[in-house]
Amino acid sequence: MVVDVKNLSEDQIYKLMISTIAPRPIAWISTVSKEGIYNIAPFSFYMGISSSPPLIAVSIGKKDNERKKDTWKNIEETGEFVINVVTYDLVEKMNITAVAFDEKIDEFKEAELTPVPSDIVKAPRIKESPINIECRKYMIIEIADMGLIFGEILKYHIDDNLLNEKGYVDNKKLKIVGRLGGADYCYVSLENIFTLKRPDKR
Ligand SMILES: Cc1cc2nc3c(=O)[nH]c(=O)nc-3n(C[C@H](O)[C@H](O)[C@H](O)COP(=O)(O)O)c2cc1C
Repeated sequence: MVVDVKNLSEDQIYKLMISTIAPRPIAWISTVSKEGIYNIAPFSFYMGISSSPPLIAVSIGKKDNERKKDTWKNIEETGEFVINVVTYDLVEKMNITAVAFDEKIDEFKEAELTPVPSDIVKAPRIKESPINIECRKYMIIEIADMGLIFGEILKYHIDDNLLNEKGYVDNKKLKIVGRLGGADYCYVSLENIFTLKRPDKR
């Protein structure tokens, strides 16, 4: 089958994109508004950009195609955020934070999560997540109704037993979650990790 996107609705294109760009990592972002209200939401249009400088990017949309989502607004106004890693045991709580709560609602309370202070940024970290990444806004590019938010990584908080001697987080221990199409997800487990060494130059 050949599918020409110009014959598809926005929804049909979205479905094809999210089921083929998969699995996607999830940036579970905690922020604080300029009024001091804590916010959390998951975003899977998320990627690493560069390690020097250490940059990530997240694509965030609008509520009802009109107002910037709270995370976008908070990052724009305060310049700071934390990315928390989603592991299998946290998926239900992550899902609660995807609800479009009013901006005055503290989503730590809604999802029964514990805010802990960050070292550099004002946005709190999620205690229950084993890895928190403090970030500062680098730039925001608006494309149509989306904000492509670039963040500079300032600091990692990693559970001690997760970092191995080679400097990698041990994915065999983490059960990190990825998003697939629709409401489907996956997680990394011991059985589906394999090692592939690159061949020598021929
Ligand atoms: C796993 C997952 C991934 C999501 N990824 C995105 C995304 O990449 N961009 C986006 O705009 N919304 C995404 N959403 C929807 C937002 O999480 C949702 O709109 C949320 O209510 C935004 O909250 P906020 O207004 O507090 O920022 C995702 C939802 C889930 C459950």
